[in-house]
This record gives sequence, C-alpha cells and structure tokens, in this order.
Amino acid sequence: MENAHTSGNEFDSLIDRHGTASIKWDKYRGDKYRDRDILPLWVADMDFAAPDSVLAALHERIDHGVFGYTHAPDSLVDAVQHYARKHYQWGIATEWIVWLPGLVQGINLACRAVGQDGDAVITATPVYPPFLHAPRLAGRELITVPLIEQAGRWSWDFAALEAAITPQTRLLLLCHPHNPVGRAWNHDELNTLLGIARQYNLIVCSDEIHCDLLLDEGLVHTPFAALDAGFAERTITLLAPSKTWNLPGLGCALAVIPDAGLRARFRREMTGLVPAVNLLGYVAAEAAYRDDSDWHAQLIATLRRNRQLLADAFASSRMTTTFPEATYLAWIDARSIDPVNPLPVFEAHGVGLSDGADFGFPGWVRINFGCPTALLQQALQRIAPLLLGA
Ligand SMILES: Cc1ncc(COP(=O)(O)O)c(C=O)c1O
Repeated sequence: MENAHTSGNEFDSLIDRHGTASIKWDKYRGDKYRDRDILPLWVADMDFAAPDSVLAALHERIDHGVFGYTHAPDSLVDAVQHYARKHYQWGIATEWIVWLPGLVQGINLACRAVGQDGDAVITATPVYPPFLHAPRLAGRELITVPLIEQAGRWSWDFAALEAAITPQTRLLLLCHPHNPVGRAWNHDELNTLLGIARQYNLIVCSDEIHCDLLLDEGLVHTPFAALDAGFAERTITLLAPSKTWNLPGLGCALAVIPDAGLRARFRREMTGLVPAVNLLGYVAAEAAYRDDSDWHAQLIATLRRNRQLLADAFASSRMTTTFPEATYLAWIDARSIDPVNPLPVFEAHGVGLSDGADFGFPGWVRINFGCPTALLQQALQRIAPLLLGA
C-alpha cells in the first residue's frame, strides 16, 4: 500500500485511502450516494500520514508479535507529563490521569460522574455533536447558549450564559479550542468563564483535543485546569494525541482529573463498560508526544496555507466563513444557499461537508481542510459557482 513516506512530500501528496475502510472516504462510495464523485471534507481526520517516529514505534511493537492485555506504560505517562510541562507549563500528577479509548467517552463519562438524574449540563453552540447528546444520554437536562458571531469571529455571550444557568446546573462542557468555530479562547475569556463557574459552583469539563493545532502565530494553549490551582479540583480535562498527529483510528485519549473524589466517580461510571486502550494506541500516543521531528511544524504550515486559501476563496462570497485560530475546521454560514439544509447543494457540486444541524445550527456547514492543498483547491474550484452567487 502506498503511503506518504514512499511518495514525496508528506503534506503535498494525496495518499489513496480507498480500501482502508476510512469512514471519511467511504461515505460517498456507499449505496446511498451510488459512488458519486464527491470529495470528502467532512469528519475530522486528516489525509496525512502520522510522523515517521510513530510509524517506527508501531512497526517495532508489531514485530514483537505478542499482543496481550496491556496497561499504559510508565514511559507514556512520563511523555504526557513532559509534553504538558513543556507546551502548556502545566504539571500533571500521575494519579490524575485516566486512560480512555476515546475522548467522546470522556464527555459522556463526565456527564454521568457529575450530579444526578435531572441535573443540568450547560454548553455553548454550535458545538461538536456529542456535547449535545451526552447530557441526555446521562439523564441530565441539556442547556445550550449560542455563541455570537461578528464577521466570522465567534465569542461568548457571557450574560446569556449566566442567565441560562439554573440551580440544577452542575457541569459546564467547554470545547477549548472550539470545534467548529475555531476559537482558541483567550485568557480574558477563560478567566470570565472561571469566574462564572466559581460563582455558580460548576464543574468544568474541558475538551482540549484540538489544543496542539494552534494556527495563529504566537498563540499558546492554556489548559482550563491550569488557570487557577484552587479551581483545578473542579475540572476534568480531556486530551488526546488523535487530532494533532492524526491517530483517531488508534483510539487513545486521557482524562486529567485532579480531585480524587471526582476521579473515583468518573472511574465508577467506566466499570465493566469502557475497555482498555488498544495497545497500539498507547504505543502511537507515546511516540507522538515524544516526536521531535519537524512533522508538526510542517503540518501547521500546511494548515495555515489551506486556511488562507479558504479565506481568499470566501472573501467576496455571499457566505461568510471563520478564519480559525485553531483546528483544521472552518465554519461556514451557508444559509444563503439553503436556510435549513445546504449540505446536498455542496454535494451536488462534488464536495462533502459536515451538516451544521448536527452542531445545533441548521443552515451552516463545516469544512475540514486537513488535506493536501491540491485537494482543497480542487474542492474550492468545484464550489466556486456557489461562492459567486449573489
Ligand atoms: C472537540 C472534539 N472532541 C472529541 C473528538 C473525538 O474524539 P475521539 O475520536 O477520541 O472520541 C473530536 C473529533 O472530531 C472533536 O472535534
């Protein structure tokens, strides 16, 4: 099978993912779409191969040949701790870490571990769909507060957030950086959220899966839990190497929960239901957190180029899009195409996007630009008639 490491520049060449049971690429090959020629720029994985160091570590582990039950290696814990200290100036104690086979499980577990039946969970929309499902699956009420947008830049409506908090509200689900609006919340915003969480006695579960995909020059990630040592006891931070190093199919994530009581409740909800991380997930995660090649710098350079291409294409369009500070996702107001369901119009032009309705915002779409620039250019050419329409 061809891979990027046999075919030139890792970020410029398109690796053929057909035949790999890729959810992203197989969507438009199924019966429903009858093999229509639609470029898939939807679900959040990238079309890039993982760093060489990750591939080498996986090869080495596979060559060992014995794949028994496996716990998280101490060396992985050390790699995560080292990485967090170096990149976020955040010290993580070993016992705070709970390993998970996926970050979405962490969102669901947080909803179950905090409060009880009938309590409420609050979050801001548009947002990654599991934020909208997890509270109800846990028997909690879901309260949503829309973010506000001005010329493609999104921010919090803190007054609306405070007004929406009820006496039953126990948990704030935060997406930091935010999928789909691409904001890396700044210190002022985080501190305001901290003040509100403190005032209303909330626990904060912060999904920071996109935190190493900061595109703006000079941005530094501040974990919500690192804002205030006292409040850290009321936080659950969800992390994973899967977005940054493109490893989502290997299923390895972690929750960082400083408070022993909250951690015990979180673990209790896992009992008998949540499997251990696949051993290859551990191996890949450790190699990724330790990778010191220029892979990440090349990735960010590619994503910045793609972000600019998108911005240029949409500059004089009737649709506005974000210029995301973080993530490889842009959020497009396509209500002028169709106020409720614009997705099929994009598909008819040969481009597959994510439906904003799933994020709580019908009429919007999300584009994934984590792909070789040439593929994005092809997609933008296909939708050019939609961009021009007045
Ligand atoms: C904000 C956010 N959280 C979680 C996930 C998925 O995490 P996992 O695949 O580890 O369940 C995604 C994937 O797109 C995401 O964007």
